[in-house]
Amino acid sequence: MSIKLNYNNMMSSVLGSQGITDGEIESLKPALLKAHATVEQSRGKGMQGWMDSPYNQEELIERINGVAKNVRSKCDAFVVLGIGGSALGATALFGALKHLYYNELPREKRNAPRFYVIDNADPERMNALLDIIDVDNAVFNVITKSGATGETMSQYLIVMDLLTKKLGDRANERIIATTSSNKGNLIKLAQKQNFTTFYIDDGVGGRFSVLSPVGLLPAAVIGIDVAELLRGARDMDERCKNNDIAVNPALAIAALQHISMNKGKNIGVMMPYADSLKYFADWYAQLWAESLGKEHDNDGKTVNAGQTPVKALGVTDQHSQVQLYNEGPYDKVITFLEVENFKNDYTIPDGCEDYADVNFLCGHTLGELMNNELFATRYNLTRRGRMNYTVSMDKVNEYNIGALIYLLQMQTAYAGALLNINAYDQPGVEGGKNATYALFGRKGYEDKAREMAHAPKDSKKYIV
Ligand code: PA5
Repeated sequence: MSIKLNYNNMMSSVLGSQGITDGEIESLKPALLKAHATVEQSRGKGMQGWMDSPYNQEELIERINGVAKNVRSKCDAFVVLGIGGSALGATALFGALKHLYYNELPREKRNAPRFYVIDNADPERMNALLDIIDVDNAVFNVITKSGATGETMSQYLIVMDLLTKKLGDRANERIIATTSSNKGNLIKLAQKQNFTTFYIDDGVGGRFSVLSPVGLLPAAVIGIDVAELLRGARDMDERCKNNDIAVNPALAIAALQHISMNKGKNIGVMMPYADSLKYFADWYAQLWAESLGKEHDNDGKTVNAGQTPVKALGVTDQHSQVQLYNEGPYDKVITFLEVENFKNDYTIPDGCEDYADVNFLCGHTLGELMNNELFATRYNLTRRGRMNYTVSMDKVNEYNIGALIYLLQMQTAYAGALLNINAYDQPGVEGGKNATYALFGRKGYEDKAREMAHAPKDSKKYIV
């Protein structure tokens, strides 16, 4: 396994007074052992069903690959209808493992349909999609665990209406449902209309679902080797079974982040130095934010826990956010994601011999430029006492991405246990969903509607 964590630049031996001491890590050890044991004891139970995902899906993978093969042969576009945890994982896998201009490639180079994820209810997005696909030449994967999410069900209804107008009864063949086997409306619709259906286990929450059919089916359709993703996750899980931070990188990061949060580092920046990992940072932002951002701990105490995730991209954001990281408040921990070898590289050719300020680049590769810029940015930040650590991999492939996903999920589980919060609920998200239902007059939300009607009205004084 090539995934490596280097956290030298978090430590006081490098950062001085801004860093973490060995003593601080030592003092956290009993809590770390407890957090590790808590996570292990719930392996596969309750909302930790996702810890079984690398192991219990062999038969399912065969079915996923079978359906994916069929979909590949019968359509020109594959569209994920979903939002949040039902969309971000597929986007992250697509970005990481497929050609960066995949949809623009000719079909014979893609060997699979074009791929879209509609992670919003924005009518412009729907309009844009319908402008560029033929609905009757597309397959739609409706993904919602609750089977009730308004944005996703609205997307579904619009698409189903169009499909039915074009294809009549055969519209059903164009929908694949991924949902809970026992909750919500999508399962009822799926059974009634005979959709191809995949189930999301009760113990797999949205933001922990990328290695379930939620992420695996879309991945398989576009030709990603999903068995390799799971093999990477399994091998990372082996490391995570160990409760020593010298072996278990997820536990080490949880420890570092926990100590940092206690030192007022309220912002966690994830900065991959690879375009392919740009959407990975989006997926991680949801995982970290929704899991840790909690008002109460498990004992009912008000804690207002969490760390705000920020997405950045190297080197692009060196020309945007890095000024702030270097000279702004000392409130951030920066996670660099480093790819040692790019799949393709370009040597920068000669052509500027008379201009020394440009000529120094000639003969080097773009990959070298990316990685030297990472080195330089990290060096600068470290010299200024800015906390950062690097997770590196030799290359972006299915195995490493599966391992990285699992690492980040485990890190989040340990961080939740250290904070003594429930990392698997999202009352803050439900609050917004319920208020929306009340606004639409949905039955059962009358109390909420009444409460909202009595909310203070906007004062004109503060409207300009
Ligand atoms: O992580 C979560 O649980 C949420 O972000 C959900 O994924 C999101 O709200 C969508 O929910 P559902 O899959 O039920 O439509």
